[in-house]
Amino acid sequence: MPTHQSLSGTSDDDLLQRMVKTHPERYGDAYWKFFDAHVAPRLPSRPTMIDLGCGPGLFVRDLLQRYPAATLYGYDVTPAMIAHGRKLPSTGANTTLAVHDVTTQPLPLASGTVHLVAMSAVLHVIDEPWPVLAEIRRVLAPAGIFLLNDWVRQPLASYLAWRRDAMGESEAESQRRGFRLFPVHAKYTPDDWRWLLGKAGFVIHRETELRASHRVFVTTPSG
Ligand SMILES: C[S@@+](CC[C@H](N)C(=O)[O-])C[C@H]1O[C@@H](n2cnc3c(N)ncnc32)[C@H](O)[C@@H]1O
Repeated sequence: MPTHQSLSGTSDDDLLQRMVKTHPERYGDAYWKFFDAHVAPRLPSRPTMIDLGCGPGLFVRDLLQRYPAATLYGYDVTPAMIAHGRKLPSTGANTTLAVHDVTTQPLPLASGTVHLVAMSAVLHVIDEPWPVLAEIRRVLAPAGIFLLNDWVRQPLASYLAWRRDAMGESEAESQRRGFRLFPVHAKYTPDDWRWLLGKAGFVIHRETELRASHRVFVTTPSG
């Protein structure tokens, strides 16, 4: 399967550094305000939570700070990401970070036991989303939440300008990386995501665009 790295010509280390650098902006006040309003009220006080494609483990760390009694799992196919997460001082004994390819391996958790599966900027790189979405459904508790946060299509000109203005890339870099990554990041429209989630058996309770580039969906398994 082509990965984000192979599609973008980005090394694991470069992607890792970018994820770390942009984390505070991506998971800033607006994100947590949305989370507190539309996700937190659906979670028990001691939730079991997974960050699927967790990258450097910073969102897992953030969740643990908010839910110290939670059981947390972060899975990522890239060993360097998991190695970074394991070095974070604030991930505790109730946190498991493991190298895991969600396209080839079932999640090592019992069915119906997970209260939150978060997936951020990962599903768009996966060639065949159905088996992955089915696996997420399998592990979720009946009222468990699948929190999808992923790229949405925008016009090429806006996308290139966004790389320059929001990501701080130089004109040359935004063109070089932008033309290569546009087909990857412009894969799904908001309607495509809605259709995909519905077909995979998820009901959307809330959605928002905290940044013009990404859409967030709060969903639970239907029926
Ligand atoms: C753009 S990064 C996002 C990381 C993190 N979710 C965040 O928002 O900071 C995409 C991540 O998905 C991981 N990934 C890609 N394909 C995967 C797969 N098949 N199984 C598990 N992780 C995968 C990559 O290694 C990478 O860390």
